[in-house]
Amino acid sequence: MDAQLSTLLFEQRRFPPPPEFAASANAGEALYRSAERDHEAFWAEQARALHWIRPWDRVLEWNPPHAKWFVGGKLNVSANCLDRHLDGPLRNKAALIWEGEPGDRRVLTYWDLAREVRKAANALKRLGVGKGDRVAIYMPLVPEAAIAMLACARIGAVHSVIFGGFSAESVRDRVNDAEAKVLITADAGYRRGQVLPLKRMADAAMAGTPSIRHCVVVRRRPGGEGDEAFAQMTEGRDHWWHRLLDAESAECEPTPVDAEDLLFILYTSGTTGKPKGIVHTTGGYLTQVAATTRYVFDLKPEDVFWCTADIGWVTGHSYVVYGPLANGATVLIYEGAPDWPERDRFWSLVERHGVTVLYTAPTAIRAFMKWGTEHPGRHDLSSLRLLGSVGEPINPEAWIWYHTHIGGGRCPIVDTWWQTETGGIMITPLPGVTTTKPGSATTPFPGITAELVDTAGTVITKGGGFLTLPEPWPGMLRTIYRDDQRYRDTYWSRFPGRYFAGDGAKLDEDGYWWILGRVDDVLNVAGHRIGTMEVESALVEHSSVAEAAVVGRAHELKGQALAAFVTLKDGQHPTSELKDDLKAHVTQKIGAIARPDDIFFSADLPKTRSGKIMRRLLKDIAEGRALGDTTTLADPNVVSRLKEMYEEKEG
Ligand code: WTA
Repeated sequence: MDAQLSTLLFEQRRFPPPPEFAASANAGEALYRSAERDHEAFWAEQARALHWIRPWDRVLEWNPPHAKWFVGGKLNVSANCLDRHLDGPLRNKAALIWEGEPGDRRVLTYWDLAREVRKAANALKRLGVGKGDRVAIYMPLVPEAAIAMLACARIGAVHSVIFGGFSAESVRDRVNDAEAKVLITADAGYRRGQVLPLKRMADAAMAGTPSIRHCVVVRRRPGGEGDEAFAQMTEGRDHWWHRLLDAESAECEPTPVDAEDLLFILYTSGTTGKPKGIVHTTGGYLTQVAATTRYVFDLKPEDVFWCTADIGWVTGHSYVVYGPLANGATVLIYEGAPDWPERDRFWSLVERHGVTVLYTAPTAIRAFMKWGTEHPGRHDLSSLRLLGSVGEPINPEAWIWYHTHIGGGRCPIVDTWWQTETGGIMITPLPGVTTTKPGSATTPFPGITAELVDTAGTVITKGGGFLTLPEPWPGMLRTIYRDDQRYRDTYWSRFPGRYFAGDGAKLDEDGYWWILGRVDDVLNVAGHRIGTMEVESALVEHSSVAEAAVVGRAHELKGQALAAFVTLKDGQHPTSELKDDLKAHVTQKIGAIARPDDIFFSADLPKTRSGKIMRRLLKDIAEGRALGDTTTLADPNVVSRLKEMYEEKEG
């Protein structure tokens, strides 16, 4: 991190907003000034842009660490995203433009989408889903994933979307934690030309989910119904989505929902083995995602907005589904991989669909850089007018490459810092207003306060420290599902009275934020959060493993890659087959995103005298650096032995 800090300190390039962009931008300097006067009044103003069934009595009730926003207000998220657009010019506008990996295409207008959502909502009701019930969604990136989310919102049910790349066991644990009644999945999904048997995974998960009464299966493969290799239907429990919806009417009144009723739970990795169910509610969340979408992505009626995230992550919730649809935008969704069938797939999509605003992740940008400029060079990208980045710090070189080769030097870049827990964007430039510096997320969004503190929790205005949020914000998580103590401990105990994000950061002389990355035991692998403990728990469940320690090592494309140090039980032999077996084991337990890149076998792990594994040392070893300070080690020889092994491997 020190090396990173010093490169950032030398970053002197400045990009003032292009005057033509500023002239018609949704955001102006005045937005900051009005928010500065009164944060609550600012957010109330943003909330008034939504449709409320009943107005709120109080903007904010703050009993730290619990906030309630728009207390007493009632609204419905699906009515805000759909119905209110149907009476005017948006009725026949494309809401979702979808492209499957094999090249199949579908367009749903706001009218189409509203009809599908109402039918799906009726179908869920018929399956016994009511207000407050949890519905798990385990899907490829197809329109039905968004339809399912909106259908839950329509009837006040709580969705828990589980990324389609997670293993059956991960699905089972999440379904059980939320006690979901219904699981919505698909027969299969496409990724890099492979057909992923999602329903088979769902079946394996459902072998251990007593709360699930019904499973609804979207037919993704053309003519897929009846192909038992992909979807074996269990009589009475499993239903084809299209058959259920065919039988339903397209009339369905939106259920009035309290501003503080749950909209969704989304599981994310933390510093212990068990994923946390992050709880988001309705009124404040929608207010923040709608306002940030309008000002950060500057959406205009004619825009085609493409956020490349999967709906299994918070970015997909907030900026594929809720934020853009609440603004009546046209959203592009692409199911598959960026290098399928060729490495120009993204740029071909941009050209063919006339994408104007692109929001993607640094890990993707670094891959594009590596693949070379000939791929974007083959396409007309002149429709683009604004670029965004999210998920991890963007290195200044990747920023400049993105600006030059994708944005043609003319598009502002918004580097947006936020988290699953924050619900919406927190620190970001406003395009047309903010002068950007490559690698800096710049300053907090209007109405948001961020403060840097030192280890003692004292606020500092310059230099490096911890990123904290001292004030509540509308989209903030309300708690961890059924574990409020963990909510208090995780976010509010390190610096009492402040939300601690888990990120290290630096403030420069202009008050710009430079996010340095996680300072806890959470890794960021290709923009995905993975808890080291989660992977360690998976490894020690393997019959030959005695102990495991997982660290992140720097990786050119993924930002960080997982390196696992494993000690074996007596009688087990460190073979390359066992390495492969352990990697496969983690994939099966958690999913391919958590598969370690390297496995090091070691007779012992370096520990302090109090028995704590010294991860910093392991990281040094995994990155091939000279050994750090080992004076506190119980047995310094452990490290030198490991180091020798590592060097052998390299040689
Ligand atoms: C990191 C994704 C630097 C950060 C929306 C945070 C970033 C974690 C940025 C949250 C950014 C996200 N610059 N770091 N622009 N955006 N991060 O919950 O470490 O999947 O804590 O939410 O990603 O990841 P999550």
